[in-house]
Amino acid sequence: MRYNQRTHSCGALRGTDAGQAVTLCGWVSRTRVHAGLVFIDLRDREGLTQCVVEENSPLFAEARHLKTESVLCVQGEARARSSVNPKLPTGEVEVAVRELAVLSRADTPPFEIVDDTRAGELLRLEYRYLDLRRPSLQAALRMRHRAMMSIRRFYDENGFTEVETPVLTASTPEGSRDYLVPSRLHPGSFYALPQSPQQYKQLLMVAGVERYFQIARCFRDEDLRADRQPDFTQVDMEMSFVDADDVLDMNERMIVRLWKDCLDADLPRPFPRLTWRECMDRFGTDKPDMRFGMELCGLTDLTRDCGFQVFSGAGAVRAIVAEGAADAWGRKDIDALTAFVKGLGVKGLAWHKGESSSFAKFLTEGELDAILRRAGWKPGDILFCVADDKDALVKSSLGALRVECARRLGLLDPAEYRFVWVTEFPLFEYSEEEGRFVAQHHPFCMPMDEDVALLDDPDLSLCRAKAYDMVCNGSELCSGSIRIHDSGVQAKMFGLLGFSEEEMRRRFGHLLRAFTYGVPPHGGIGFGFDRLVMLLCRTENIRDVIAFPKTQQAVEPMMGCPSPVDQAQLDELKIRLEIED
Ligand code: AMO
Ligand code: AMP
Repeated sequence: MRYNQRTHSCGALRGTDAGQAVTLCGWVSRTRVHAGLVFIDLRDREGLTQCVVEENSPLFAEARHLKTESVLCVQGEARARSSVNPKLPTGEVEVAVRELAVLSRADTPPFEIVDDTRAGELLRLEYRYLDLRRPSLQAALRMRHRAMMSIRRFYDENGFTEVETPVLTASTPEGSRDYLVPSRLHPGSFYALPQSPQQYKQLLMVAGVERYFQIARCFRDEDLRADRQPDFTQVDMEMSFVDADDVLDMNERMIVRLWKDCLDADLPRPFPRLTWRECMDRFGTDKPDMRFGMELCGLTDLTRDCGFQVFSGAGAVRAIVAEGAADAWGRKDIDALTAFVKGLGVKGLAWHKGESSSFAKFLTEGELDAILRRAGWKPGDILFCVADDKDALVKSSLGALRVECARRLGLLDPAEYRFVWVTEFPLFEYSEEEGRFVAQHHPFCMPMDEDVALLDDPDLSLCRAKAYDMVCNGSELCSGSIRIHDSGVQAKMFGLLGFSEEEMRRRFGHLLRAFTYGVPPHGGIGFGFDRLVMLLCRTENIRDVIAFPKTQQAVEPMMGCPSPVDQAQLDELKIRLEIED
């Protein structure tokens, strides 16, 4: 019996295979002894097959003591099972084992290899090779591969060339911190790992590549969340001689193909488009979840002169209506939602159910009526209002409350996909931290034609960019823009962002110089590939779709990195550490 001559995978056998001689290989998922038989559940990447060793078999003693996760090759006859297991695709058959070879004996694993494992994530990441044996993670790896193949095929068919750009490079701003790599040959100098291939892909347009894409590794030293990794993958693309509509159309078609190839789903096209301003007004965020309504409603004009000081004294009042929530949510739920919005920085949450209300008593009947009518409240609903002097805070807190209410009302179906483009982003945003305007996306975005004159306005927040994001179910999937292709405008942009002449020359001199030698108008997009796969796999944890991810503390516990290095290595790099023990 040879393990390289297996006849079937552990997921292949069906009732109709009964009577066939078969050879299977795999891992022991479970053994049990019952009525004089040893049952071995043998698992490989395709599934699980029950194998049976009879009491009178010479293999019985060995089979009885097999440890789980040992690797076996079994040979025998497929036969109909007396008790069919309808939960397993192979549930109608079992293999009556005639020969059995233990190819590798396993120690007791630190956790059971099952999908509904209760093992902590840190332990699972330390033994990631065992964790990856779980069927859901195997499925995620395959989905990731299928997605990558689909994307490559799509861009290839549309005339794009995949070009690899360097990982050891110079800093390029995407609003995050760089990972630095010290140079041995040039002590005191450092490479930066790319936050994205942004500058290279623009230089490839100057180089005449016209249509570029890359499935690119990107590195960002930022605070991690459930949908962020320090080391992640982008689907990066750039095109020449296009405007924003062309880029949106091409990438929308890529996503439609991706969903077809991976989920056999037909997404309706075109995806809806919202301008950034409309999006903020209606959803309180630039990442709107479109699976449900509950849109924000402005009330400021109605409440300006009302008798409720919280409303009349505030610069902005807005509301949402949680449909049908009045019966479901009592005081405790409303208190929890109040704590939720207070955590976002507003002072309170006013609510109205009809029979009870936190603010109706302060208003005339006419004032209350006007508010309820405007918001579309009806009996059975709860109206929630937030008032504050800062309208942006009113919107963002209600936007977050909207999603929280939807979550509690069970409106967030992970199998429903609602894509939307958000366009006309502001070119700049004011950073309170830095006390100046910074690029909302990155410094290479083109202002909208009608807003170019606003670059001379002291209030840069008014200037809009030819920049767009694709959002699905509240997750930002990609960002992109039409780029500045004029070295004069680009230099002006760097100036507005506070770069000195010297800094501009040092950091971006190559780009400005390149732009003096004939540059086509161009634009593109970078997708978060891991986020696309998260949606396809319907998981909210980015670590579920990456083979060897890092923890929220940016640690990879299996390889044990980051880690200290030998003094000799530091000496070679001429690096001296100043770390207190
Ligand atoms: P941006 O910085 O918006 O744009 O990044 C593009 C997309 O990459 C994903 N992403 C991440 N995914 C996982 N972990 C992270 N730490 C992380 N950071 C970003 C997001 C995001 O939408 N060069 C531009 C693109 C362009 O203009 O063409 C860029 O990098 O899904
Ligand atoms: P008070 O007069 O402080 O008891 O508040 C009356 C109601 O208004 C309570 O339900 C408060 O939660 C609510 N409230 C207080 N501040 C705000 C605010 N900034 N926005 C919305 N509601 C508020």
